Amino acid sequence: MPKVAVPWKGFCRERAVVSDAPVLPVGDDKRIMVESMFDGIAPRYDRLNRVISLGLDKGWRRRTVRALCLPAGARVVDLACGTGDLCDDLFAAGFRPFGFDMSAGMLASAHTTAPLVRSDVLVLPVPDGSVDGVTCGFALRNFTDLPTFFTECARVLQPGGRFAAVDAAEPEHVIVRMGHHIWFRRVVPWIGGRLSGSAAAYRYLPASTAYLPGGPALIGQLRAAGFGSVERRTMMGGAVQLLTGTRVRSEGEA
Ligand SMILES: C[S@@+](CC[C@H](N)C(=O)[O-])C[C@H]1O[C@@H](n2cnc3c(N)ncnc32)[C@H](O)[C@@H]1O
Repeated sequence: MPKVAVPWKGFCRERAVVSDAPVLPVGDDKRIMVESMFDGIAPRYDRLNRVISLGLDKGWRRRTVRALCLPAGARVVDLACGTGDLCDDLFAAGFRPFGFDMSAGMLASAHTTAPLVRSDVLVLPVPDGSVDGVTCGFALRNFTDLPTFFTECARVLQPGGRFAAVDAAEPEHVIVRMGHHIWFRRVVPWIGGRLSGSAAAYRYLPASTAYLPGGPALIGQLRAAGFGSVERRTMMGGAVQLLTGTRVRSEGEA
């Protein structure tokens, strides 16, 4: 993947003067920014995750793995695997995980023993219908094109294969949303800035939930990509969402 100058670095200094909200890039600018940002925070990513989720992220990932409802020994690709937390949980549940991520820094900081591949998950080096399950943890909002991602997941899954993705969400209840905003948009960037040295990254992470469409639209995108039995459950008062689906057999498929 080519390394080029990062136009967003520091989230556009000129604009930061008038607003502390990061500018959210799109397309290639977003992909380059995301890769560079995760390369930069990778060595401190796991510790920060524990702190900003108050240790709850581990449980959310385990729940994601359980939601696959697959038998032991199933081949599961963990997409945008980062440092490999979900891969470890997949191993612990008796699956055969393979991780994919585009950030060399995140892969270099990985702690999992699962095989890891550096790849853009929108164009996976995986044959059609070759895996039983797909997981994705806290990465949907980082992709440049969600429908393409869901279609790629459906392509690599065999019919009947399972998809489970966990990510941040906006709580619906106004009081919960206010509390969540204070934590996620004020406290997290402050803590992130101090512990990771990159306040910009930890302003981007909460702000990037704005990239995610609402629940009904996400469900619609999964169905359009070839998934049935699509469900969306929320946790933590709606601050975290778990999306699941089953790859349907398309016409002409054996
Ligand atoms: C918030 S981290 C999540 C890491 C891990 N899944 C977890 O649960 O902690 C998001 C990850 O998505 C990866 N990522 C974002 N866009 C990607 C893409 N198009 N292809 C591959 N990896 C991508 C980043 O490199 C980063 O490691």
